[in-house]
Amino acid sequence: MLDQLQQIEQIGLTSLEQVSDEEHLESWRVSYLGRSSPLMQVFDKLGQLPKEERPLIGRRANEVKRALETALAEQSAVLQHLSLERTLQSQRLDVTLPGRRMARGRLHPAMQTLRQIYRIFGDMGFQIYRSREVETDEFNFQLLNFPPNHPAREMQDSYYIDTGTERGDNPVLLRTHTSPGQIRAMRELAALNPDNPPAVRLILPGMCYRYEQISARYEIQFTQVEGLAIGEHITFGDLKGTINDFGRRLFGQGVRTRFRASHFPFTEPSAEVDFECFLCNGAGCPVCKYTGWLEIMGCGMVHPVVLQNGGYDPARYTGFAFGMGPERLTMLRHRIEDIRYFWANDLRFLEQF
Ligand code: PHE
Repeated sequence: MLDQLQQIEQIGLTSLEQVSDEEHLESWRVSYLGRSSPLMQVFDKLGQLPKEERPLIGRRANEVKRALETALAEQSAVLQHLSLERTLQSQRLDVTLPGRRMARGRLHPAMQTLRQIYRIFGDMGFQIYRSREVETDEFNFQLLNFPPNHPAREMQDSYYIDTGTERGDNPVLLRTHTSPGQIRAMRELAALNPDNPPAVRLILPGMCYRYEQISARYEIQFTQVEGLAIGEHITFGDLKGTINDFGRRLFGQGVRTRFRASHFPFTEPSAEVDFECFLCNGAGCPVCKYTGWLEIMGCGMVHPVVLQNGGYDPARYTGFAFGMGPERLTMLRHRIEDIRYFWANDLRFLEQF
């Protein structure tokens, strides 16, 4: 009987060492410590043993039972520890991994050009004046010397707004150019000192709208930047000097300019300004359509009627104005061949800048 107990203990302990997970641990417990295990059968048989053998066998059986129980508890702890290790390994969370990057927006390409224009004119002492996008016929046309039915309006077919009231010859419309801001700015400044209105050095940026036949070169909405300078003794030479300086700062020191006679109702004389093509340096290329020149802006001396309408005495004050399109400039700088990309809101285009 003692030998049998010895064997039970030895086999039990050895086979316990082979147990590698908790499921097998449970079946080991059933085989070695369960109700019908050989050890428990020894306990069952104790009563049938001769009286004098019982204490010895009983004590030994209890020793074996305790030894197996202790070994079971130890092995169970070891297995629990191992399984925790395994989970930690396999479900490891690496907190040092870089996080997911946030998609970052950026300035619209036309806005980037616009900011460059602000910087250049800012350096020359011009301030930004923001004027409204919804205008009246009076400010968009009449005060700028376009009488009703004047043919020059045809260049700027317009989006009219139904205000629900009869407005006669002063309907409300989306501004077709930034020039109405000239009148608003002049009036605001002249009101500060009507007898001696202050000098004006302004840049007027913003969105404009025209009812256009949309094409690669024409959009129904586009940005413009207007420039306005008014003072005593301002001449066409000042206009040329300012524009030339602007051209050099934007396109490089060597760039030449060309002024061609033109017509706008609100400037007299008026001109279109071309810059020498910065891609071919005037030699001729597809971007300048082999002319060597790029059309950049319209300009002129502020018409006396416009000065008057703004509250500036044309006998005393003169000034110049110019207007250009940042989208067009951006197209030239980046060789973008279709103006419709700018406001189509396609990220594949926008993300390139
Ligand atoms: N407002 C004119 C246009 O939209 C441009 C311009 C501005 C011309 C200022 C002369 C002076 O075409």
